[in-house]
Amino acid sequence: MEIQEIKQRFGIIGNSPLLNRAINIANQVAPTDISVLITGESGSGKEVFSHIIHQMSPRKHGPFIAVNCGAIPEGTIDSELFGHEKGAYTGAVGERKGYFETVNGGTIFLDEIAEMPLGTQARLLRVLESGQYIKVGSSKVEKTNVRVIAATNVDVYEAVKNGKFREDLYYRLNTVPLRIPPLRDRKEDVYLLFRKFTSDFTDKYRTPPIQLDEDAQQILINYSWPGNIRQLKNMAEQLAVLERDRIITGQTLLSYIPAEATGRNLPMRLDNQPKEDFSERDILYKVLFDMKRDMVELKKLVADIIEHGGVSVNHATHSQTLNQLYRDIELPGTTDTQFTLQQPVNNNSTNPYNITHEAEEVEESLSLIDKESDLIRKALKKHKGKRKLAANELGISERTLYRKIKELNL
Ligand SMILES: Nc1ncnc2c1ncn2[C@@H]1O[C@H](COP(=O)(O)OP(=O)(O)OP(=O)(O)O)[C@@H](O)[C@H]1O
Ligand SMILES: [Mg+2]
Repeated sequence: MEIQEIKQRFGIIGNSPLLNRAINIANQVAPTDISVLITGESGSGKEVFSHIIHQMSPRKHGPFIAVNCGAIPEGTIDSELFGHEKGAYTGAVGERKGYFETVNGGTIFLDEIAEMPLGTQARLLRVLESGQYIKVGSSKVEKTNVRVIAATNVDVYEAVKNGKFREDLYYRLNTVPLRIPPLRDRKEDVYLLFRKFTSDFTDKYRTPPIQLDEDAQQILINYSWPGNIRQLKNMAEQLAVLERDRIITGQTLLSYIPAEATGRNLPMRLDNQPKEDFSERDILYKVLFDMKRDMVELKKLVADIIEHGGVSVNHATHSQTLNQLYRDIELPGTTDTQFTLQQPVNNNSTNPYNITHEAEEVEESLSLIDKESDLIRKALKKHKGKRKLAANELGISERTLYRKIKELNL
């Protein structure tokens, strides 16, 4: 298939040489049964590529399943992948089919492969080499015909050196390495992607089109995008929904970019720290980012109130925000003056919130733990308890979410 056709069929936007190269490799390897190891930073499009390979392979009518090795507790991953016999362990009442049985004839996508426990790695190696596996608690050898595509956003070879990943499995999986470039290495695609996403979201939410001024375009293109395409997509969605002024300035755009201690335009450090640190930091960013957005909203509201002496009733969301805000504000004002809100002289009666104090203080819990549990709870609620979706939204791995739910007793 031609590269343009592939892009069109799978909704792949971009034209950079690195992206085209990745598509070409996927195209060439798809018709074979060779295992593929997809590497790339978080949000760069690894899962998208796994679909491309499956859909362009002779297995396309067979099943496809994506398994996040980082999200399955160590005690159950063998049984999920390979199945178990009745009574294989306490609690195993019935027998269970594993994915390698149900996906026979299809493709299995093993995401976050570096998180796979060593014991499971040994079983996986055996399947890859001979198509054979044994259910947990059984001694009968089973056969299966499954193609494996694995993905990781950490350096698996580093895990090999640390004894956390089997070297033989690494080479076996890595027969064809497929590297998805980070967004900052495909700067020429950033604006293209942004325009595509904003136009999709303004269509979806029926809001007016979004444009970036010159300044904003430069910032967009030169930002390091640690969350890659997913981050860009989220930003486009937020702008499409939140911004009243549809010509986005550099300053507005900056308020959607988490201010990293390392500086905005520096490339992200390589991920050679423990993964957990990254996720903790991601949560912190998210908290800061949300707080910053609240501040921007707040400033706008204040400007609104000063200008019009009240809040226009048309802005339902703003009124809601304001209501919420005044529930959180302690009246009368206290000594810590963050900003001063002057009551316009002429309009005590039209001001529904009766703002008469010179200084207000936002009495919000600033405990990160509270914020964190709050965010996690909200994300879980929003996605009806679906951990994968909630973790995605929070920008952390499913395993971290799992751990946090336990840790915070949610
Ligand atoms: N080239 C592209 N054009 C348009 N959209 C893309 C492209 N690549 C990825 N996306 C979109 O970006 C988002 C993230 O992609 P995906 O889930 O494949 O990333 P990932 O590398 O698997 O991320 P993670 O490491 O967090 O699992 C998805 O919404 C996907 O549809
Ligand atoms: Mg993924």
